[in-house]
Amino acid sequence: MERLPGFRDFYPEPVPLSDGWSMELRQHLFDGWRAVARRYGFREYDGPPLETLELYTAKSGDEIVHQLYHFDDKGGRAVSLRPEMTPTLARLVAASERHYKKPIKWYAIPQLFRYERQQKGRLREHFQFNADIVGEPDPAADAELIALLIDLLRGCGLAADDFRVRLSSRNAWRDFFRQRGGQPEREYDFYQIVDKLERTSPEESARQLDSLGISFGEIQDFIRSAQPTDELSRILDGLEAHGLRGFVQIDYAIVRGLAYYTGPVFEAFDGKGRFRAIAGGGRYDHLLRLMSGGRADLPAAGFGLGDVVLTELLRERQLVPPLRPALDAFFLIEDQALRPATLRMVHDLRAAGFSVDYPLSQAKSDKQFKRALELGAIHTLRLEPGSAGAVVARVKHLASRAERIAPAAEIAAILRGALPSSTG
Ligand code: HAM
Repeated sequence: MERLPGFRDFYPEPVPLSDGWSMELRQHLFDGWRAVARRYGFREYDGPPLETLELYTAKSGDEIVHQLYHFDDKGGRAVSLRPEMTPTLARLVAASERHYKKPIKWYAIPQLFRYERQQKGRLREHFQFNADIVGEPDPAADAELIALLIDLLRGCGLAADDFRVRLSSRNAWRDFFRQRGGQPEREYDFYQIVDKLERTSPEESARQLDSLGISFGEIQDFIRSAQPTDELSRILDGLEAHGLRGFVQIDYAIVRGLAYYTGPVFEAFDGKGRFRAIAGGGRYDHLLRLMSGGRADLPAAGFGLGDVVLTELLRERQLVPPLRPALDAFFLIEDQALRPATLRMVHDLRAAGFSVDYPLSQAKSDKQFKRALELGAIHTLRLEPGSAGAVVARVKHLASRAERIAPAAEIAAILRGALPSSTG
């Protein structure tokens, strides 16, 4: 049975197959993201991976709608796997916002599904850290989000020259378009053309722009100007105050593909521009109103950071930490008569918070020892009959080979490193 193209298998380390992904690396990323998000005062939420199809056809825009994994369920409902989190967030907030003080600062780590053409950095399933601030129109919210994005990337070990955040504004592009007589109903088409400039030939872009009455040369001049609007200046000032201005540059080549963005938009890229976007987001002040039929009219901004490009980049920069399996102790059972007493002790140590494993069935000593090594055990333990019918444990610290015999009551302290593991 083959895995579907564009989907991934995650294995425990060491990953045995060249096309396998590391479960420990995935968990390492998630743990890091959660820690940084909490430091920024964001709270975690989640929603279902399957939503009504309408949630996406309403406001996300054509590009993502063409990539939906959608079908009719057995009840005849048109449903879709989630391709992004923002519509789910808007639905949750519209239903519950009266119960939360504003601004709402929430994050999530959903798995998302898009039927995309498979290429470097793009799969048909990925995990995406999402952070959004709802109910705050001030550009301080946009700056807070960009600061969070920078610290998420720095938290993975990336330094200032490894990545940059390109900041732009749909407001700036809207003014540009309208000043040149662009029709409001063609505005999204215009953004789509600008969004694809870096991936389309200049001749093709010029032809597409021509059909909207816009000259390619003027677009290039506007991008080259890189003059921040007042709104963008305020975001830059905020980032300056955070001490993070150096990570961000004004870059009007960014406009974002999704339909709902209304104001400042940004994307993060690797410093050499060799990978696809690591993250992207922006302000979407009308989405909640549109999705709630006017019930919840709240400004919002946020971003999504994907695990696929980030992992490629961390690998390239050799920033993936060693992710070996680790176990506090592996219990060797050589005398089967001591198995019940061993299980008791295994259980007590696990209850005390240690990770402990043991052979489930009788096995030769060398096999047991090899298993201890494979599981990354720090210590091996073995019960032995002591004096006067008591049992004692032989504790071995595998790295130093230090060994000692200890009464059961002292094992926890030895594993914690509170007592020397060698008597000598
Ligand atoms: P997005 O730009 O579509 O934004 O996705 C954000 C990031 O997710 C991308 O920069 C990329 O790293 C990753 N990503 C997207 N599609 C794929 C794929 N097929 N394979 C691998 N990685 C992928 C959004 O989804 C917005 N909803 C983000 C947002 C949140 N805006 C406001 N709040």
